[in-house]
Amino acid sequence: MSNKKFSKLNITPKLLLGAGPSNPNPEVLEAMTQPVVGHLDPTFLGIMDDVHEMLKIAFQTSNPMTLPLSGTGTAGMESCILNLVEPGDTVLGIENGYFGHRMIEVAKRSRANIIPLAFEWGKPVELEVIEQTLKDNPSINVVLAVHAETSTGVLNPIKDIAELAHKYDSLIVADTVTSLGGVDLQIDNWNIDLSYSVTQKCLGCPPGLAPVTVNQASIEKIERRAVPPNTWYYDLLLLQKTYWGAEQRTYHHTAPITMIYGLREGLRLLVEEGIEERIQKHTDNCNALRKGLEIMGLEMLVPNGNNISSLTTVKVPKEINDQQLRSELLKNHNIEISAGLGTLSGQVWRIGLMGENSKRENVFRFLEALEIELKAQGMNVSAKEAINQLA
Ligand SMILES: Cc1ncc(COP(=O)(O)O)c(C=O)c1O
Repeated sequence: MSNKKFSKLNITPKLLLGAGPSNPNPEVLEAMTQPVVGHLDPTFLGIMDDVHEMLKIAFQTSNPMTLPLSGTGTAGMESCILNLVEPGDTVLGIENGYFGHRMIEVAKRSRANIIPLAFEWGKPVELEVIEQTLKDNPSINVVLAVHAETSTGVLNPIKDIAELAHKYDSLIVADTVTSLGGVDLQIDNWNIDLSYSVTQKCLGCPPGLAPVTVNQASIEKIERRAVPPNTWYYDLLLLQKTYWGAEQRTYHHTAPITMIYGLREGLRLLVEEGIEERIQKHTDNCNALRKGLEIMGLEMLVPNGNNISSLTTVKVPKEINDQQLRSELLKNHNIEISAGLGTLSGQVWRIGLMGENSKRENVFRFLEALEIELKAQGMNVSAKEAINQLA
């Protein structure tokens, strides 16, 4: 029996200036409308090769095991941690935000011994404390850390953390979800052993894939496991051996064809623009946003130098209703920004300028809309001076 209850989707476009997803590049969306082919079709195998090659450029690595997992960033997190860590390992989990905490929660599922090391949210980690902990606990053999902590806007010194991890004979898993494709990230030069990221932030694609990269030292540790990891779908060695890294690719699971088309286009645009240029663009637009907000009288959570250039955290002024302002921005201006997470809930707004959205015109559009909504709640601000200074 015919049922006309459900109409065709017709969604108003929004400007996604939150913590992600950000708006995909139009070219990415166009690529995703290309004909679907089989996951072992020669055309698709060529597309996989391109994605593999360009992901290595994005991660700045020569790791042969560099591939997009089917799933979002948390799939990448689970896969990297649950493949690498096994019972008997001792894991140092560094936490100065929501996602560092999540890495620790995931690691607990591995039945290893976990040593959590917490720092105040919104503050950078203290390297001396990390070193002391590594010194005091010689059994630590894996370190978990977030590069760009999206919950607070703090950029952690991942290169220094990796150096410490290796000094004390550990491997390091780095969360590069909010940095890949927008913030300086050099997997090989910084000796990062495993890393995972997402497509929906600085790569200008929709959510759905988790790019990962794994070096030889990590592969050797995974190969030495007493028992295979407690995950079949996300078994990295199996995926590499059967599908992504195989000379004769065979079925592992049906690849999300359309998502891979989109990622190929997002990476093509990144490579065409140039990694250094893309990073500089994120820095410039972030600095413009921070300056504009400060001219309007708002206060940053994270000081210059410790901040992430793809994600800015600004304190909610005392007289302003956080939730009301965010919903009015969405309702009246079609602009989404994110609330604070965890202990920063209600205290900060998280404003993303990621990938396709890292544009000066978006900074201006946001400041103008913010002026209107702050004024609506009785705060006397003007975006005009900020925009004039930044133009
Ligand atoms: C730093 C960080 N790690 C992990 C994740 C989890 O990614 P996802 O939500 O795509 O599963 C996020 C999501 O925003 C993130 O910001």
